[in-house]
Amino acid sequence: MRMRRKPWARPELAACPYYIPQPEQYKGHWREQFSNPQAPLHLELGCGKGGFISQMAVQNPQINYIAMDIKSEMLALARRNLEAAFAGQPVTNVKLCTQEIELIHQSIAPEDGISRIYINFCNPWPKAHHHKKRLTHPKQLIKYLGFLEDGGEIWFKTDDSQLFTHSLIYFTQCGFELAYVTHDLHHSGFTQSLSTEHERMFTQQGIHTKFLIARCHRETCAKAVETLQRENPKYQLERILPGEDFTR
Ligand SMILES: C[S@@+](CC[C@H](N)C(=O)[O-])C[C@H]1O[C@@H](n2cnc3c(N)ncnc32)[C@H](O)[C@@H]1O
Repeated sequence: MRMRRKPWARPELAACPYYIPQPEQYKGHWREQFSNPQAPLHLELGCGKGGFISQMAVQNPQINYIAMDIKSEMLALARRNLEAAFAGQPVTNVKLCTQEIELIHQSIAPEDGISRIYINFCNPWPKAHHHKKRLTHPKQLIKYLGFLEDGGEIWFKTDDSQLFTHSLIYFTQCGFELAYVTHDLHHSGFTQSLSTEHERMFTQQGIHTKFLIARCHRETCAKAVETLQRENPKYQLERILPGEDFTR
């Protein structure tokens, strides 16, 4: 997403007590950064303008959240949305981080005990030679499995049918249990998922939200990943989708 430069973004973030510019410094120590370290810890990848995390954090004060995006300007907007949502109350259960998700293993460790990951409307990367950049590609799922708790879940939403179909395969190949799948979230009766900015935009265009919950059973996932890595020794995991030409 292209954005206009925001000269106010960096100064506002620099002054924000819950903004973490170098998340790798807290690897393995995330819980201690929150006023309630015993609370469940959830992670949002590619949080954008933070509309989702703002609503979630206000509605669930008993849960701690880390929201990540590669763009500081997005995080600055997220900070403003959080401030508005908390209406003057201190934001104690959220950390905003500048993070390239491909490098997430440098910032989160198993001892951080992440029990849920949200991936909302990530870039679909439609060209085959870009598939490995998808946030749901096995290359990424393997990294999340490095820190996701046993029984932990990934909640994934997208407008993109091809990304969704491929992601169902990606999650299955990494051994996840598909605990919930719908191709039309808003007519599915599932009410626990709050809308994001992109979700509202696509819904207005008449595009259905595809949604899944993938559950991690560590032993099953470990075995599946071992097989996957054996078959794809150079992590050329994009080859795993049958019938696609990955030579382009
Ligand atoms: C299409 S927007 C979706 C924003 C929000 N989740 C929503 O549903 O409205 C994707 C967001 O992911 C971020 N992003 C894309 N690739 C990323 C990466 N590799 N690492 C971190 N953030 C990324 C972008 O900066 C952008 O804010």
